Amino acid sequence: MSLKLQHGEIVVRLVRVRDAKALEALILGHRSWLRPWEATNPSGANSFDIKRMIRGLLRQADQMQGLPMVIEFKGELVGQLNVANILYGSVSSANIGYWISPEVAGKNITPISVALVTDYLFNIVGLHRVQIDIRPENAASLRVVEKLGFRFEGTKLAYIHINGDWRDHHSFALTAPEVEGGLLNRWLHDLIAKPKYPFRGSDI
Ligand SMILES: CC(C)(COP(=O)(O)OP(=O)(O)OC[C@H]1O[C@@H](n2cnc3c(N)ncnc32)[C@H](O)[C@@H]1OP(=O)(O)O)[C@@H](O)C(=O)NCCC(=O)NCCS
Repeated sequence: MSLKLQHGEIVVRLVRVRDAKALEALILGHRSWLRPWEATNPSGANSFDIKRMIRGLLRQADQMQGLPMVIEFKGELVGQLNVANILYGSVSSANIGYWISPEVAGKNITPISVALVTDYLFNIVGLHRVQIDIRPENAASLRVVEKLGFRFEGTKLAYIHINGDWRDHHSFALTAPEVEGGLLNRWLHDLIAKPKYPFRGSDI
């Protein structure tokens, strides 16, 4: 299976086992940046085997339960975007998670990647809903969904085990009819029309 989505210098493609070394260097090189937002094992056993993680994610992709992607910027691997919990039929939804290297943060790489993947999930996979769950403390990630116009749907208490404990998450979603003309198109139009976004996470 091959999948590559692109906008300008941003490429979002399926992860490969041979990305392991570069991914490991990024993850280990930016521990303090990633740790507050990283999923952890509630049993306390947190082993880090990147090849095993990639193989596990690719098995989910084979069964169309997930799409494990990496983000490239100017030809360099800079982050991960994972589509998880893909459900079909009467639910037809999926969850998106992401992180990016601090060296390229603040360049709209994540919102553009999320928009590319959301359009793919709606228009090619045929899903109806895309969801993103974010810790209320994660101001940068809240900005990503705000900029893209994901709707705030409520707060899930003690929802995901992150950085060693069960953490509350704000839940955001979009359904396909809300972005009929495409999320990336809407984003690009909004960027031209109103480069500053007045809505902030603290408004929730
Ligand atoms: C959240 C994250 C993916 C955002 O990615 P990004 O590509 O930088 O997204 P954006 O360019 O839209 O920036 C989002 C906000 O980050 C903040 N930001 C910008 N540059 C930054 C920098 N160098 N360092 C920290 N935060 C920065 C700004 O508030 C920005 O909002 P603005 O565009 O209104 O100024 C990234 O910060 C990250 O990987 N953080 C650590 C892991 C994480 O939080 N993952 C998400 C879990 S839900």
